[in-house]
Amino acid sequence: MSWTERQRAMLREMGLVTWQPGSRAADPAPAAQPVPAVATPRPVAGPPARVMQQAVAPAPPAAAAVLDIATDERTRHIATLDWPALRDAVAGCQACALCQSRKQTVFGVGDRQARWMIVGEAPGEQEDLSGEPFVGAAGQLLDSMLRALSLTRRDDGPEPAAQRVYIANTLKCRPPRNRNPQPSELAACEPFLMRQLALLQPRLIVAMGRFAVQALLRSSDPVGKLRGKVHQYQGVPLVVTYHPAYLLRSLADKARAWDDLCLAASVAERP
Ligand code: URA
Repeated sequence: MSWTERQRAMLREMGLVTWQPGSRAADPAPAAQPVPAVATPRPVAGPPARVMQQAVAPAPPAAAAVLDIATDERTRHIATLDWPALRDAVAGCQACALCQSRKQTVFGVGDRQARWMIVGEAPGEQEDLSGEPFVGAAGQLLDSMLRALSLTRRDDGPEPAAQRVYIANTLKCRPPRNRNPQPSELAACEPFLMRQLALLQPRLIVAMGRFAVQALLRSSDPVGKLRGKVHQYQGVPLVVTYHPAYLLRSLADKARAWDDLCLAASVAERP
């Protein structure tokens, strides 16, 4: 493959040296293992697990029914919130145990007119301290990648909407010791991400890593299998790519992530 100057700039930003004739510096490394499939696939489409279990071991009907009604009502309520009310709802959320260990919630960052929505996994230590997504090492890589595409998370600069991204996570609270999000936590947090997407109405979604993919595509396929094509989330084009934290460990997949971002950029530029 021959790279354009723009592509070379991107690869440099990502810490990759491009291959030149006579050089072996960036020979393609052996393909890294794709990000493993979901360890514990989330229940997705179909009847709620509780309903299916009832045939075998009935749950206490009254308690289950009350919980379902409460959950539905909460989801419906969140779906009506505007940006300030949504931010407040996230800040005060106690829907799962992560509220006990978080320092603060991490709502999202970027311009509300942004054309790109980037969805990550969950806040880490730095994000928990600062209240902003992707500010640690993975965030620095993400910013480099965005910069190489002339994109920005800033909402106060001179850039037009086409160059602005909004960044949010599937979870708004840090899991202790950065462990993987649990299905119940993802389910509790999902209405917030859905509402952010509905309010933003982005032209394009980039799902980074398997938890974003699970939340948005309802798929437990590995990222390596889903990347490279344009999916849809409620009519919005969605591109899957590797999580920046994974890219910090996998040089070979950085070049694939660059291809994914080029694909995303071509979708975002469609009239
Ligand atoms: N990883 C994520 O997925 N999100 C963050 O905000 C930070 C690290």
